[in-house]
Amino acid sequence: MTMIDVQDFHVRFRSRKTETHVVRGIDLRVARGECVGIVGESGCGKSTVLRCLVGLEGGWTGHVSLNGKPVRPERQKEDLRAAQMVFQDPFGSLHPRHRIGRALSEPARCMGLPHGRERIAAALSEVGLPAEFADRFPHELSGGQRQRVAIARALIVEPALLLLDEPTSALDVSVQAEILNLLSDRREERNLTYLLVSHDLSVVAHMCDRIFVMQHGVFVDELSPEDIGAGRANHPYAQHLITASLLGDAA
Ligand SMILES: Nc1ncnc2c1ncn2[C@@H]1O[C@H](COP(=O)(O)OP(=O)(O)O)[C@@H](O)[C@H]1O
Ligand SMILES: [Mg+2]
Repeated sequence: MTMIDVQDFHVRFRSRKTETHVVRGIDLRVARGECVGIVGESGCGKSTVLRCLVGLEGGWTGHVSLNGKPVRPERQKEDLRAAQMVFQDPFGSLHPRHRIGRALSEPARCMGLPHGRERIAAALSEVGLPAEFADRFPHELSGGQRQRVAIARALIVEPALLLLDEPTSALDVSVQAEILNLLSDRREERNLTYLLVSHDLSVVAHMCDRIFVMQHGVFVDELSPEDIGAGRANHPYAQHLITASLLGDAA
């Protein structure tokens, strides 16, 4: 079963004078339960792809279906529930004056799902946080704890697909592995599908079944974690990323 099917996908940003063709024709197929990565340097269009798939950006063309349903640039509430996004900056994505309980209950309520005290406690427990955290404010949490809340908020609407945009890039190295393990565990348990974006090759190699290498708005290579481990790529840019990552590890 195909969870993401994207063909001939383009994104153009227009201002009054200029047009920037940011995503320039990508094809992407992800099966249910797969974890697929997109890696590439800053500005190549990774976040733009995710923002379009989750309905935050409407200016795209091409054929997209999620979970077997065709998706148009103007999204409906129902198909927004199928895909949820986790952002790089967990502080920016939580309202500073809303308690954690409210951050979790609102999306569930909007989708007509259970959102009472018990449901919130269960959602927190799923991401390794105690029920009392419902009464706290975002500034009372560490970066890692806030990212756990952001993951709980995505999961509470029971999505089939998580779009993860650099979910550990803003965190201390010691916390990154904890969050990646949490994501792996939840995926296994719920048979979730992940599309994981990172500029860090070691993150995608650790997490993903397949990895697309993106450069200037197109996919130039597709790698397996074994390819990355063996330092093997077809495209020169992908080879460059692997070599740079190996040097980074040695430093
Ligand atoms: N809303 C927007 N309007 C105009 N240009 C944008 C917009 N969003 C992103 N861009 C441009 O699109 C390119 C890709 O951005 P992005 O998808 O954020 O890259 P990445 O996530 O790979 O770092 C960048 O050049 C960025 O400046
Ligand atoms: Mg980005």
